[in-house]
Amino acid sequence: MTQAPGAAHWEARYGDPHYHYGTEPNDFLREQVGALPPGGRVLCIADGEGRNSVFLASMGFQVTAFDLAEAGVAKARRLAAEQGVPLDAHVADAAHFPIGEGEWDGVVSIFAHMPPPLRVDLHRRVAVGLREGGVLLLEAYTPAQIGRGTGGPQVPEMTMNLATLRAELPGLEELHAAEFVRPVVEGPGHTGDGAVVQYVARRAGGVS
Ligand SMILES: C[S@@+](CC[C@H](N)C(=O)[O-])C[C@H]1O[C@@H](n2cnc3c(N)ncnc32)[C@H](O)[C@@H]1O
Repeated sequence: MTQAPGAAHWEARYGDPHYHYGTEPNDFLREQVGALPPGGRVLCIADGEGRNSVFLASMGFQVTAFDLAEAGVAKARRLAAEQGVPLDAHVADAAHFPIGEGEWDGVVSIFAHMPPPLRVDLHRRVAVGLREGGVLLLEAYTPAQIGRGTGGPQVPEMTMNLATLRAELPGLEELHAAEFVRPVVEGPGHTGDGAVVQYVARRAGGVS
């Protein structure tokens, strides 16, 4: 079995000054940002070099972000400073970052591909971490991305689809669920048509 890339892989990717996925936010996040409770506390998981967290901070959200790669977090902090927005950014492994219970108005997961045991546990903790009315925004590559050569993990078990997400995030109210191929052009890291799953879901009990 091909091994999941570890911290050294990401440190090497982020080690040079350019932004591997660019500095503009992910298109799906830009489209769906209105689903997040305005001005709320948002957690960006596996945030990389900060393009998504910094965008959210610039929209007035109170943003906390974490990523395994120190070089990525350093660039996220720099991007936030350049744009003059506050960002609470941490170097942390998803296995250990304390998400808490009922803490977050939003959780944002963009191409946060991890090995299944970690992903399953993370998704369980994300569902618990959302406040009532809190919203998860997630985009990831599906198994259909394998071999396309336009980015994403080349290990099928690291990809996700709607069935995986529905099983791993039970009890959330689905607001948007889609699997399709779309152009994903985000720096040199993502470079063409990509097979993605998009998932927007809310923890019940909040004001709709
Ligand atoms: C494809 S990149 C996406 C980065 C960012 N979300 C974006 O869209 O620009 C995947 C990210 O997951 C991070 N990552 C992988 N495994 C992780 C883990 N166990 N804990 C925290 N971050 C992790 C990597 O360091 C990398 O930054």
